[in-house]
Amino acid sequence: SIHIPVITIDGPTASGKGTVAHRVAKHLGFHYLDSGALYRLTALSAKRKGVDLEDEEQLALLASFLPCRFSRGHVLLDDEDVTDLVRAEEVGVAASKIAVLPALREALVNLQVSFRQLPGLVADGRDMGTVIFPDATQKIYLTASVEARAQRRYKQLIEKGFSANMEDLVKDLTERDARDSARATAPLKPAPGAYILDTSDMSVELAVQTVLDLYAKSAAQVN
Ligand code: CDP
Ligand code: CDP
Repeated sequence: SIHIPVITIDGPTASGKGTVAHRVAKHLGFHYLDSGALYRLTALSAKRKGVDLEDEEQLALLASFLPCRFSRGHVLLDDEDVTDLVRAEEVGVAASKIAVLPALREALVNLQVSFRQLPGLVADGRDMGTVIFPDATQKIYLTASVEARAQRRYKQLIEKGFSANMEDLVKDLTERDARDSARATAPLKPAPGAYILDTSDMSVELAVQTVLDLYAKSAAQVN
């Protein structure tokens, strides 16, 4: 079989995974998987259908038939453009609550793996390097201090027209970090062999360049 390169970028909320992954993918002409969007879409869909966030069986069913599409940076659910809506902080919180359920995670595996297509993939999330693409060409664990991340998320939310306050965000982020790291199934942690990149005092540009350099080195070793 042909080897399809994958770069995984895992890390806590607002560490810059999405921004960095998207730019790296664009630079290399690779596909991009925002795995968090799948958990967010499932949470949004559950809310709309009145499915309880603890009903593992129904949530797994929802996730296996998620009527979503990704096109040119837009996310569609049932043909409705929900690109901005899924980024709302309460959808992120709901996503992290349902993400502890093993059956739901299992229901999203095939969809995630199907993004691995030539010429390559950049995938961001929590378990891309540990569970979904354990044979990735280059694994990155992107992180930053809670303060830096809360500031980044604050700016993003305000720019999108959501209301936000720093105190609530720091609390949200800390709780979400704890929930993502402590869960039994696919907890947030650096994958074996992952390069740990702390971007607390780093520009997006430098983070992107660092990932590209690391990938170029590992791709040279594979070929
Ligand atoms: O952008 P942000 O990091 O805040 O969140 P996200 O990547 O969109 O993910 C939302 C939630 O989904 C996270 O808090 C995780 O609990 C969950 N998630 C996960 O469990 N596994 C993934 N591969 C991606 C997201
Ligand atoms: O996907 P994740 O939740 O990890 O983060 P994101 O949605 O990419 O948000 C990160 C935000 O912080 C974006 O607005 C970036 O412009 C900004 N930022 C960054 O990603 N990386 C840095 N080194 C500095 C700022």
